[in-house]
Amino acid sequence: MTPVGIDAVEIWSGKLKLDLPNTFAPEKGDDPAKYTKGLGLTDSSFPDVYEDIVTMAANAAKRLMDREGLTPADVGRIDVATESAFDHSKPVSTYVAGCLESVYDGDFTHANKGERKFACVAGTQAIDDAYNWIRAGRNRGRAALVITTDTALYARGDPGEATQGAGAVAMLVDEDPSIVELSTAQGYGSKDETDFLKPNQQFPSVDGKRSMQVYLSRMREALEDYESVAGDLELTEFRYAPFHTPFPGMVRKAALLAYRHVIRDTDHETALAEDIGRQPREPDFEDREAYEAAIRDYMDELKTTEPYQHWYDDTVEPTLGLSRSVGNWYTSSVHVARVSALRDAIARDDALVGDTLLVASYGSGAQAEIHAETVCEGWRTGIEALDIDAQLDARYDLSWSEYEDVHDVHEYDKDLGRDVEAFTVPDGEFVFTGWGRMNERTYEYVE
Ligand code: CAA
Repeated sequence: MTPVGIDAVEIWSGKLKLDLPNTFAPEKGDDPAKYTKGLGLTDSSFPDVYEDIVTMAANAAKRLMDREGLTPADVGRIDVATESAFDHSKPVSTYVAGCLESVYDGDFTHANKGERKFACVAGTQAIDDAYNWIRAGRNRGRAALVITTDTALYARGDPGEATQGAGAVAMLVDEDPSIVELSTAQGYGSKDETDFLKPNQQFPSVDGKRSMQVYLSRMREALEDYESVAGDLELTEFRYAPFHTPFPGMVRKAALLAYRHVIRDTDHETALAEDIGRQPREPDFEDREAYEAAIRDYMDELKTTEPYQHWYDDTVEPTLGLSRSVGNWYTSSVHVARVSALRDAIARDDALVGDTLLVASYGSGAQAEIHAETVCEGWRTGIEALDIDAQLDARYDLSWSEYEDVHDVHEYDKDLGRDVEAFTVPDGEFVFTGWGRMNERTYEYVE
């Protein structure tokens, strides 16, 4: 069977930066280490006043099309995954297509366009849709453009405010891919949860602590479901494990849980037992409470062991590189983690071709999905072409009062009539210009 997967990737970061230890922490009266060590974040990317989910998506997509030498005729499908949409009917992909049509010859009249919603897992679902469309033979030789884009903003004063972010990732899903080949083995953990939601409101209602528990529970179920089709996981089976990363501290917790699960009843558990004992088994305890307390103690010991730390440093830590500097990009977050892993392999001069990534996506509400991907021959060229370091270096560093202003600009209930100057100058990119006669948002390309 011809391989299908991600053939090219581009990233677009919001052009502003909020420095968490130096700007955010002092205003909150917090120790900066809460952000750098606890949550694991240094900065978040923020959208300038002329940026939104459409401009970031279209800018990432244009870069990808230019780099790959594509025209609209080459793209048969545009799917945008977002949880920051501003319209209940007209999908963001139509706005993005409109932007792209203003700069390319030809149009996307033939292309199927849609919008995927399931919180942060929607981008991975859109990749699945593209994969299935190609596998079903319905693509007529064309590629799918999958774009994840979010302005992940929280209400001022919400605990989630520390984990904001803004950016987009454009991915080309195609036959004979250059970056990663997808597989059919997948696992799901999915339940009706009210941990994080936006019922007809811009900013989320979040039960922060509970959202973390829900993330871990759905991940565990997805891992078990994945193993039911792919067989028990081996620690050495995959080179990197990119997770959905709302903040790196969350992934630290998920990785420890995954490690405990994977080593259970293996030689690794036996080897560790000499130092920290075997993992608690529920039947050995009188009640659930006692069992859970024993598990917590075991996990505290497990994370200090050399084998765990070695595995974590090699397999998970490298996936967090970009996330630390950009914050939560919701639908893009796991795809940014994949790119971070591949950038780490470049830094280590690791060949990687044929190696496996275990990709763990998550969306509140709630669903986790786990699948394996195989790294393809052309990955290095595709990842080396990214200019994300230059983008991050060029971000404008907001003062606290500037942050307050720009947050207001992006708050739907406040922005009408406000006149805050842009902090950066657009250069060869799509920008938001205002509202049209039916209250649609309008855009133009600035040379
Ligand atoms: N030095 C070192 N560490 C410190 C510290 C210090 N001085 N002060 C605090 N910390 C640590 C804390 O111990 C904690 O780490 P542990 O959980 O490992 O103990 C960490 O820093 C954060 O501190 P708090 O728990 O006190 O932080 P908080 O209550 O203010 O907020 C949060 C944390 C609840 C996650 C909040 O940021 C939030 O609501 N975020 C939005 C929801 C979210 O991201 N949930 C994640 C799962 S849901 C998901 O993944 C979907 C999604 O994208 C939103």
